[in-house]
Amino acid sequence: MFAAMLSIKTIVVCGAGTMGSGIAQVAAHSGFNVIQFDLNSAMLDKSRAVIEKNFDFLISKQKLEADQKHSILQRIVFTDAIAECKGEVVVEAIIENKGAKVDLFNKLAAVNKAGTVFATNTSSISVSEIAAETTDPGRVAGMHFFNPAPLMKLVEVVKGEQTSEEVVQLLSDLSRKMGKTPVVCNDAPGFIVNRVARHYYLEAMKLVEQGLTDIETVDAVMEATGFKMGPFKLMDLIGMDINYGVSNIVWEALGKPERLRPSPLQKAKVDAGEFGRKTGKGFYHY
Ligand SMILES: NC(=O)c1ccc[n+]([C@@H]2O[C@H](COP(=O)([O-])OP(=O)(O)OC[C@H]3O[C@@H](n4cnc5c(N)ncnc54)[C@H](O)[C@@H]3O)[C@@H](O)[C@H]2O)c1
Repeated sequence: MFAAMLSIKTIVVCGAGTMGSGIAQVAAHSGFNVIQFDLNSAMLDKSRAVIEKNFDFLISKQKLEADQKHSILQRIVFTDAIAECKGEVVVEAIIENKGAKVDLFNKLAAVNKAGTVFATNTSSISVSEIAAETTDPGRVAGMHFFNPAPLMKLVEVVKGEQTSEEVVQLLSDLSRKMGKTPVVCNDAPGFIVNRVARHYYLEAMKLVEQGLTDIETVDAVMEATGFKMGPFKLMDLIGMDINYGVSNIVWEALGKPERLRPSPLQKAKVDAGEFGRKTGKGFYHY
């Protein structure tokens, strides 16, 4: 039996980084109990601080009452113990690595009831390939939030080859319950948004690599045409390590076409540990 929407009480959010922290915040704010799991306790502390700061901002804008902040925070348990990670739905937002995600799902399947749904927030790894290495592939799907998760409305619900219709429906309903707009996608490299957006980043980097312009000009021009963020600011927000990883996975999955070859400019940033906002330096300084 699959968990029905009404029976979802607790969501296990794995990874307390950029995305996991935001997803935990949204889930708790939407009324669910949340267990936020990360192997790194410093990331759990950071996530708690970020969530508190975000709620303080909402209070300052009179969009949240102080006592609501208290009760929402009480619904989140921060833990590095996998045995505590029991819920009806798991949403994982750990590193963009297939082996790590499969290993985590299999460890969580051992501590959770049959019927638990496993959603991956992967940006680029095949959901079908992750699912195929788990004990119950029908219960695995993509639930791809966008950054920053508390603000961005879109969720790509990704249907792997073996994902059941019930799971797709449940994650779509859950997305709506979390105030999001779900779009069901098939499992193709980069799904929809990351496939299209590759060119936004890559063409911008090509212009700079070829010495035709600079990053500030590209960002200013794209923002002036109506994009919310220029491509370099957006890469700094996403995290260079994540964005470069996605570029490689999409490029390889599509047979390494020249038009999608990852940029040496971004590789240099990754090699230098300049991941963007999260490390204080990327294309810009923070
Ligand atoms: N950054 C974005 O804009 C963005 C957008 C959509 C989806 N995603 C996807 O979300 C996932 C997370 O991305 P992020 O930017 O939040 O990464 P991040 O580097 O900010 O955070 C990853 C977290 O996972 C933890 N972690 C690593 N291995 C773990 C494990 N085995 N078990 C538990 N915790 C573990 C790390 O300690 C870290 O806190 C990736 O799959 C990424 O592709 C990222």
